Amino acid sequence: MKQVEFYEEVYGREIEGKAETYDKARNCSETLINNTWRRIRDFYARSKSVNEVFHCFEEQFSFRGGERVLEIGCGLGTPGTEVCIENRDRIHYVGLDFALKPLLSLRRRFAENGAGHFRLVHANILDECFAHESFDIVFGRGILHHFDKTKKPVLAKRIYSLLKPGGKAFFLEPLNTNPVMVSLRALSRPFRPNLSWEHPFSSKEMKSFVTVFDSHEVHYFIAFSLLSMATAFHRTLFEVTDQAFNKIDHALSSRSWWRKFYTKCVITLSRH
Ligand SMILES: C[S@@+](CC[C@H](N)C(=O)[O-])C[C@H]1O[C@@H](n2cnc3c(N)ncnc32)[C@H](O)[C@@H]1O
Repeated sequence: MKQVEFYEEVYGREIEGKAETYDKARNCSETLINNTWRRIRDFYARSKSVNEVFHCFEEQFSFRGGERVLEIGCGLGTPGTEVCIENRDRIHYVGLDFALKPLLSLRRRFAENGAGHFRLVHANILDECFAHESFDIVFGRGILHHFDKTKKPVLAKRIYSLLKPGGKAFFLEPLNTNPVMVSLRALSRPFRPNLSWEHPFSSKEMKSFVTVFDSHEVHYFIAFSLLSMATAFHRTLFEVTDQAFNKIDHALSSRSWWRKFYTKCVITLSRH
């Protein structure tokens, strides 16, 4: 299945509130494996380690007023979209996605939240959809890894050209450097169609992506804290291990040798 069709279908189910029913029918979710996986996932989504990634991402937003903001691959909206809605009277937001259904749903949400002036564009970011130097801020969550190693350099140049001088771009992305995650991804590839268009950053790809910009910073998250998933059968134990591993992750993230063990990052890129 092609990527656009896949997202139209997934978002369609989510909009109609059928995602849970579909999971149940497709995955026999009552089985032990699926229940265990769901439990681990739910614990992990609320963990300190994951919250820190979102916190770092949201911290990147700072508006003086009047900024033109582009969200690439906005889907049904992200925590970043929420920040933009909160600042609706001060900024001009444009959300872009090549799947149509989520944009229609997001348009209704904007209208209900007093952000009817926010624009949504149904297009591929690799097409010429905006004039050069149109945006003060470009951001996205889980979008850069949808481009393979031949397209990432094109995308980096596109984002750079869309930024006004003095502009900033930031992205929350998965990494493909942790050996455990690399193996898990390879093992689950036959069962997950979407993995065929997911290409998280290798160290080499990251280096060539960020060097297109005049300055950059990469914040690394979640390496050893992945191990806390093994304690997801017990809430208190999970909280304790999550905190402990999280401290180790903090301590080691500044050392370049350890960075390959991290699984998520927030990349900030600037044009001078
Ligand atoms: C993993 S989803 C993330 C959605 C949203 N950012 C979030 O975090 O919930 C990736 C999104 O990017 C969109 N997308 C992928 N490649 C794209 C492209 N070349 N141009 C526009 N949108 C794209 C997909 O349709 C999908 O909505």
